[in-house]
Parts: sequence; structure tokens; C-alpha cells
Amino acid sequence: MTKTEQGRFALSCFTAALALGCSTSTKTSDARLAEGASAPAAAAATDTAAPGVNGGQAGSSAVVMSSPAGEALPGGLAVAPSSQASAAAGGAAGVAPDAASRDASSAAPAPAILGATPPMGWNSWNTFGCNVSEALIRSMADAMLSRGMRAAGYRYVNIDDCWMNGRDADGKLRWSDNFPTGMPALADYIHGLGLELGLYEVPADRTCASTYGGYAPGVGSLGHETDDANSFAEWGIDYLKYDLCRGQRSGFAVMRDALRATGRPILYSINPGNGQDDLCPPSSCALDLPSIANLWRIGFDIDTQWSSWLRLIDENANLYAFAGPGHFNDPDMLEIGRGASADEDRAHFSLWAIMAAPLLAGNDLRNMSAATQAILTNAEVIAVDQDPLGIQGRVVATPAANLQVWSKPLSGTNARAVVLFNRSAASADINVQWTALGLPGGAATVRDLWSHSDLGSFTGSYTAQAVASHGVVMLKVAALPAGPS
Ligand code: GLA
Repeated sequence: MTKTEQGRFALSCFTAALALGCSTSTKTSDARLAEGASAPAAAAATDTAAPGVNGGQAGSSAVVMSSPAGEALPGGLAVAPSSQASAAAGGAAGVAPDAASRDASSAAPAPAILGATPPMGWNSWNTFGCNVSEALIRSMADAMLSRGMRAAGYRYVNIDDCWMNGRDADGKLRWSDNFPTGMPALADYIHGLGLELGLYEVPADRTCASTYGGYAPGVGSLGHETDDANSFAEWGIDYLKYDLCRGQRSGFAVMRDALRATGRPILYSINPGNGQDDLCPPSSCALDLPSIANLWRIGFDIDTQWSSWLRLIDENANLYAFAGPGHFNDPDMLEIGRGASADEDRAHFSLWAIMAAPLLAGNDLRNMSAATQAILTNAEVIAVDQDPLGIQGRVVATPAANLQVWSKPLSGTNARAVVLFNRSAASADINVQWTALGLPGGAATVRDLWSHSDLGSFTGSYTAQAVASHGVVMLKVAALPAGPS
């Protein structure tokens, strides 16, 4: 699609939206804003309002979901039992326990939304690029168990670019000779470990590594969507990363429909950006991203540099209204354990968690250090990312240049995750005011999610002393009920 065509598509979608409701997601995002997903003053509203989930068939396109007010949530979301979502939510994913227990009619377990909480897993690209093989993937899956990743909630083992080897005479995708027993056998192995398998493709003739890296067998799915989706389903694939690269944006909805038609719940992660001048974040993309995919990249590729992490954090910071159960902004995979300092790695993980970002490790799990393992498996930080409300946190205060206070409403009553983020070159004290969090100004308990310790009860505010340069203090703040006046 040329720039002019994209402009035309945007215009026609906008016109159609006025007449026909072309996009439901904008309205939903606005509704979430009003419900407190963004404005601190209104954030307490989330203490009782949780996204509701109605019934649906596994892998069905007939998805019926509604907010407590009966307003339609974005379509395009498969409803299916999801082991990850269920585990993360401790039962009925997408429904806050408090909200569910207050409503007798919701006593029966609700079906889970596929991707109700951000996906957790591992992806081959950051460390291995095109050097993927069945032996690598099996050993990484084994490491998911032996290094405590599965126990911490990580499920997906995702093979990025370079797994394919052209097409056979019938036009069906072939896997590379590096996968000698084949994808179905690999999927069986992965499933046998309680994990799920993901693959990469593109809405183009050639994959990104083929276009830019000379990986000749890297054929794309453009024009083969039905065949390829059927192959993925037959092989037992659970996750598809679909990357624009030099392809066609119109192909994202085509693949969504082809995946749905298979009847297999396959989490759908897209990169609608062209990697250059047109990144297509939900605030400006001509595509209605939440109606198409469970997650969408919002920026150019991450790398091991701190500056690239800050770039993605800043690009994602104002996109919070587009996130919710089943559809999340994706600031890219994790670079933890790939050379940065422990302070920077803790900051990276904390920011991804408070932004409700996918947690897809990109390091070699087999030989990661104990320190890296402790960061990636921090249950209290993961719980923030996986909170069933699915709200993306945002900056609520900037006490000084390069010092930020991030807040994310959590399920439960008057509870917030807070990241005190020091982007500066020197350590600094950072103060957080309860009013900035949308909490009552009285007493609140404060827990440190990295030291795993209760810091006590504080009235009105808390100050973290000497937050490390490029570091964070991450807290859970819970307002105490006001006493009798
Ligand atoms: C693009 C994506 C990366 C990776 C490569 C594979 O650059 O953004 O995440 O998938 O393609 O070629």
C-alpha cells in the first residue's frame, strides 16, 4: 500500500466511522478513560469496575464481550480457555476477584479471553537472530522449566524469523531442515512441557530477514493466508507474530480472519510499523489495531542500549488508553540479561510490567545468571503486569527533570502499582503523593516489590531515598480504609 493509498484508507475509515462505527476501539478506550484507566482523580472507579466477559466459543469469531455498563468491547478477540490467562488471574481471567465476588450472578467461572493479560514467554530473535533450530528451541523450552520461568508464568516459546524453507509443490509452507522432526513433533514436545509454541510470518512475499538479511528461504504469507493459517493450526501453533516489514497493512485483517477460521485459538501479535518512517501506533494508525490483534508493536526494534529502552517507554507512555484485556500495546521484547546493569535491567522489567507490556524474554535462558533469573521471575512485579484489570500504567507526576512517577491501578480496593523512575545520571530521592495516584490522602501501606518487604504505613506521600541512576523503586501502595470520623 502506498502512502497515498494509506491516506485514502485512513480517510475512508474515518468517514465510515462517522456513519457506521468503523472503529469500536476508540469508543471503548474513551469509556475506559472515563472509568478511570487514565485520570488519577477517577482512578478509584476501577476499584469496583472490572471488564466483564461473556461467553463465546473457542477460536470463534462470534465473540461477545461487554463492559459492566453493557458497552461493547473491541471485537476481533478469540475467546478460549487460556492456561496463561487463567493462571495469571487465578481463575476467571479478565474479571477482578473483588468484582466477581460482589456479583452473585457471576459465581460461575467465566470463560477466559485469549490474551486477557499480556503474553509471557521467550522469543529467539534478540539473541539468536536467524540461528534457530529444533535443538535450540527444545533446549530453551527445557530451560523454561529448569530456570523457573514456567513456574513464574512464562508460557510461549516463540520462533522468530528464519524457521521456514519456501513452499512445497502444493504451496504449503515448509519448515527448515534445522527442524528435523518437524513443527508438529516440536509442538507436541512444547505442549508436553505445559508450554505453547509461536511462529513468525509476514504479510509480504518475503520475510524481513529475507528482505534485509539475505535469508533466501524466508517466504511470506501474502496471498497464502488461508493455507498458512491452516498449516499453523494443523501443526499445533499457539501464537503468531505477524510483522509488516515491507509488506501490506491490509494483510493483517486477512490473516486475523484466516486464523479465526481455523477454529484454533492462536494469539495474534502484529507489527504494523514499517521499521522506518511509519510505525503505525494506535494513536495514528489507519488500522483499528485492537479489533485486529491481541497485541501490536508501537515502535522500532529494541536493542541492548538504554537509549532504545527510553525511546520505547516514551513512545508507549501516551498510548495507555488503547490497552485492555485481550489487546495490548507492545513496546517490543525484553533485553534483560543482555549486558545492561542490574539497575537498568530492573528498571526495564518494572517499566514493562507497569505498562502491561508483553513479557517476552530475549536472552539465553540456559545460561542466564542468577541475578537475571531473579529479575525475570520476580513474582510481585509479574503480578503487576498480569493484573486482571489489564490497565496500562502511565506517568502521573514528574517531580524533576528525568524523575518520573508511574502509576497503574490494580484490582482490589484502592491499590496502585507505582514505579519511581530515575532516568538521570545521578541517584536521587523521589517522592510520590497519594493524590497523584488518585488515592485518598490518608494512610496507605507501602510494599517494595524488589526488596519484597513491607515498608510500613505512610500518610499522604512516600519518599524513596537515593533511587539509583537508571534505576527504579517499585511499590504497591494500598490506601487504608478511613476510620470513623
Ligand atoms: C523485524 C521485527 C523483529 C524481528 C525481525 C525478524 O525487524 O521488528 O522483531 O522479528 O523483523 O526478521
